[in-house]
Amino acid sequence: MRSPSACIAVGSRRAVRPKRNTEAMCGIVGYIGNREALPILLGGLETLEYRGYDSSGIAVCVKGGIEITRATGKLIELKKALAGRKVMSESRIGIGHTRWATHGRPTETNAHPHSAGRVSLIHNGIIENYLELRAELEREGCVFKSETDTEVAAHLLNRFLEQGFKPLEAMRLMCGEVRGSYAFLAIDAENPDRILVAKNSTPIILGRGEGENFIASDIPAILPHTRRIVILEDGDLAEVTADSLYIENRGSIVKRQEQTVSWDPITAQKGGFKHFMLKEIYDQARVLSDTLRSRFNEQEGSVQLPELEKLGAKAKEIKRVVLVACGTAWHACLEGKFFIESFARIPCEVDYASEFRYRTSLIDSDTLVIAVSQSGETLDTLGALECASGKGLTLAVCNVVGASICRKADMVLYTHAGPEISVASTKAFTTQLVALELLALYLAERRGTMSTDERRKVLQSLVHLPSAVAQTLRVDAAVAAAAKQLASVRDFLFLGRGTCYPIALEGALKLKEISYIHAEGYPAGEMKHGPIALIDERMPVVMILQREKQLFEKSLSNLKEVEARGARVVVVTDASPEQALGVTPEATIHVPFVSSELSPLLLNIPLQLLAYHVAVMNGTDVDLPRNLAKSVTVE
Ligand code: G6P
Repeated sequence: MRSPSACIAVGSRRAVRPKRNTEAMCGIVGYIGNREALPILLGGLETLEYRGYDSSGIAVCVKGGIEITRATGKLIELKKALAGRKVMSESRIGIGHTRWATHGRPTETNAHPHSAGRVSLIHNGIIENYLELRAELEREGCVFKSETDTEVAAHLLNRFLEQGFKPLEAMRLMCGEVRGSYAFLAIDAENPDRILVAKNSTPIILGRGEGENFIASDIPAILPHTRRIVILEDGDLAEVTADSLYIENRGSIVKRQEQTVSWDPITAQKGGFKHFMLKEIYDQARVLSDTLRSRFNEQEGSVQLPELEKLGAKAKEIKRVVLVACGTAWHACLEGKFFIESFARIPCEVDYASEFRYRTSLIDSDTLVIAVSQSGETLDTLGALECASGKGLTLAVCNVVGASICRKADMVLYTHAGPEISVASTKAFTTQLVALELLALYLAERRGTMSTDERRKVLQSLVHLPSAVAQTLRVDAAVAAAAKQLASVRDFLFLGRGTCYPIALEGALKLKEISYIHAEGYPAGEMKHGPIALIDERMPVVMILQREKQLFEKSLSNLKEVEARGARVVVVTDASPEQALGVTPEATIHVPFVSSELSPLLLNIPLQLLAYHVAVMNGTDVDLPRNLAKSVTVE
């Protein structure tokens, strides 16, 4: 890092202990032009409310400097805080942010914009080397006010500007120092005629107007003002004034094609997808990277979860693990059992939270109780956790920062799926699988139940997961075609063995939740003890067939039994397309093979799509299915 000539310290001198603070799902809006910025920024942030957030803030250029207002909670709180600030209402240039903390407290001090000297900056993404940068900046005299990774970027930018670099050069130098993902928007009190923008791995768009320009993390935020959009690419730096958009990449000017968006505002919120569920299915490649990011060292075969320090210290003493949850999260627990038993060699039980809490639960100090929940507010899961609390060690695996379950548990492992809006859970489930896999590896390392090589191998496969998910999503059209053939059927049977049995359960649950078609998941080997009596040409069977040798052959035998009874068969498999199945299914959906541990996750994706397409064909309310709630806070 270059040595700074000046670093302007801001705020209190009390040292704040840095914490990991990732904000991958935040909303960003910027405006510069001839109108008052505040209503445009607030309007844009309101449009992004559907993404979920826990705090917000706005910075605007005013005569002689920058004014900032931030608040925790909903935008109404920010509006209240802004009400008395006339000075801000006259500005014609500003940046606004809604923060959805995935780690780190949702406080006013952690809310964006962050300021340093003459600079005010907002950020969506993660700065991976922020601890190093922060330590270095602190040594050089910078005083930090927040716990965020973002604040280092504000200090760095301010430093380069103070060294005399031009605004965009300073931005380029700052981006050269940080490692990670980002969309940055910054304003400089000494250049109040421009907004600086930088992008790497996190989406950001520019919107062109007449004598005004807009910047946003998502199209809906600026749709009421313009439909002329310029999408920035990784490595782009932009300087946006009221009349111009200047974009460069690696030092050269670039021209990015302007596009005209024809979406209505609701379609825009869904990122152009017809439903939130489909958007969230497609989100998976990206959010799984968020679940994994900064949590392991592949070379060392090591998992780093500082938030589980307490568990790490006790890992060798744990004699039993009990996983509790409801709905889809319960299926994630069933997969978690496989991971924990095979990696960490600890006996596991999985219980419905609603059952566990009313049983005599034999929990002692050597038991680890894990509550898995997307929302962290499910009443039964909270109740189960309360039963265990004070008896054993408790851990929440949760998606929502600061949720009730997180506050109750001794430790929290966040899944980083981002806000899930569709009632039917998709990306929350797959991120839960990965979080539980990381947890199992973490325990295995500390208990010495896996060699470094074995752990490294598992981690290597996790590295390929996001791209394998992206590849898997290419089956969408084939699944839609199969769904068309099957949409009018009234009953479905989903079969799987081993780690694919929970996937059969989840596939059946997804279908019944959103299409209202009766569906059952069953262990394939158990089929002949009952469900086989139901099989005929009116009962299609979805077989989840993993390539793992022993189970592959056994599942094929079950498939033959099904076919012999006239059932229509859909095979979802990670076996290679050349591999003979010896049966002729109505449809065969192939997903890539990465590793046997990751097969269930990848095989689940076509089932999410199948449920989705069948539901769409039946005309149900996909995102808000009848009788169901996203978060069940009653018994
Ligand atoms: C409801 C939702 C499901 C979810 C379950 C558990 O039933 O409709 O999608 O799996 O609650 O929710 P949680 O937030 O605890 O994961």
